[in-house]
Amino acid sequence: MIPYKHEPFTDFSKEENKKAMQEGYKVVDAYLGNDFPLIVGGERITTEAKIKSYNPAKKEELVGAVSKATQEIASKAMDIADETFQTWKKVKPEIRADVLFKAAAIIRRRKFEFSALLSREAGKTWVEADVEVAEGIDFLEYYGREMLRLKNGAPVESRPGEYNQYNYIPLGVAVVISPWNFPFAIMAGTTVAAMVAGNTVLLKPASTTPVVSYKFVEVLEEAGMLPGVVNFIPGSGAEIGDFMVEHPRTRLISFTGSRDVGLGIVEKSSKLAPGQIWIKRSILEMGGKDTIVVDKEADLELAAQSIVKSAFGFSGQKCSACSRAVIVEDVYDTVLNRVEELTNALTVGIPDGDEHFVGPVIDGASFKKIMSYIEIGKEEGRLVTGGTGDDSKGFFIQPTVIADLSPTARIMQEEIFGPVVGISKAKDFDEALEIANNTEYGLTGAVITNNRLNQEKAREEFHVGNLYFNRGCTGAIVGYQPFGGFNMSGTDSKAGGPDYVQLHMQAKTTSEML
Ligand code: NAD
Ligand code: ALA
Repeated sequence: MIPYKHEPFTDFSKEENKKAMQEGYKVVDAYLGNDFPLIVGGERITTEAKIKSYNPAKKEELVGAVSKATQEIASKAMDIADETFQTWKKVKPEIRADVLFKAAAIIRRRKFEFSALLSREAGKTWVEADVEVAEGIDFLEYYGREMLRLKNGAPVESRPGEYNQYNYIPLGVAVVISPWNFPFAIMAGTTVAAMVAGNTVLLKPASTTPVVSYKFVEVLEEAGMLPGVVNFIPGSGAEIGDFMVEHPRTRLISFTGSRDVGLGIVEKSSKLAPGQIWIKRSILEMGGKDTIVVDKEADLELAAQSIVKSAFGFSGQKCSACSRAVIVEDVYDTVLNRVEELTNALTVGIPDGDEHFVGPVIDGASFKKIMSYIEIGKEEGRLVTGGTGDDSKGFFIQPTVIADLSPTARIMQEEIFGPVVGISKAKDFDEALEIANNTEYGLTGAVITNNRLNQEKAREEFHVGNLYFNRGCTGAIVGYQPFGGFNMSGTDSKAGGPDYVQLHMQAKTTSEML
């Protein structure tokens, strides 16, 4: 087995890659606007009610109309998943892992199609789409290898005359609920981690981006996944999400999304349903309010570049995005001026080519929410640049910088999930760290400093799941920077890390007298 290495990113300055991306669009455009069915036990089910997925950059452009699961269909999917678990759990881990490796190979061959689909369905720029497809491939390659590492369990001691073993067994039916902001990588990673561990899956993708998940389930089928192992049931969170979370046969919930929905799942899944004989396991990856701290002894150009790139990549719609910066007063004006210059140089537009750094935000509801936060920001601080939006053709918002904010301002505390960064001044590094820790979240953070002692202080005291030094706070790579946060950012399950696949299994000890 070739050792795991992350998928390389595409260099779009090369003509051949630009051409390949245009070819990817041609493939996607041939199925754009089609109807896509549900997949339950391998059977295609078409419903009258549809979830309509539109291109956020061209709001009239229908990407696809996807059938919408009812509780009745979700119930049928649960029965099938429950039944299929009895066979899938006995399929050798090597064979389960092979499905992932084959799926990775298929996606690698269709990389530009998947990137083009992310550009159409989620409004991702070429670079962001390519990084996401690479991350999806990485999850497949990494979790496949992780299962091979774990298939014989872990070593334990045995005394003379005794033979002890410690093995991992799967849990049962996993409900996987995924967000729209990494509609391919997170959806695929959370699905295959559950599946490779021997569980069966009910996959409910976000309603804004269901087409890419349908295409992924097709790939799993082509790669040899048995019918009923992953069941594709998009639908309303309130209707089928709650139903699946509360179902007595649900054994595991793997959720990635907002704080409020995550907390609702904690509450609902903790109530015992009639007939339920286990405590449901949940993996919950939630929101962030991520900070870049800038020390006075620091590369100030790097600081400004890191803030701008982490704040505005994918229009700030990453859980890891830099939505706040805290800058020590000695260098505050210098860094802020440079952030302003760099932000003003960004262009916003339809991501059909590779010229724009910023694309649209996901939909009208997000557009309104972000614009209303900008109004709050104007009251709470000083609008440095940006602040305008245009939703006439797509949902575009100018990258926005709001400075001179109190560390407790709403702009510095609440997840906005758009191209808005709030900036506060700290009197020294210690105060900057205190401010960095003053939210209820704890997902990512970065510190820009050349002071070794301050760096070590931050390593100990900056309470986030992913802490970066002298770089931005986005862009964790599977197997290199396992990803997940503290506090209200979730259960710190560390996707793409060496403890992740185990979370989808339970350990069994056996002890034999010889
Ligand atoms: P969301 O919480 O609105 O939706 C996430 C998923 O939950 C969707 O599939 C949605 O349909 C479903 N859902 C909604 N109500 C439900 C219910 N009652 N029961 C079950 N499922 C329900 O989040 P979103 O807007 O899709 O994604 C953005 C959020 O996700 C942000 O807060 C972001 O920070 C977070 N996120 C976190 C991570 C991480 O790794 N920590 C990664 C990506 C996104
Ligand atoms: N894994 C993504 C990042 O680190 C969310 O940006």
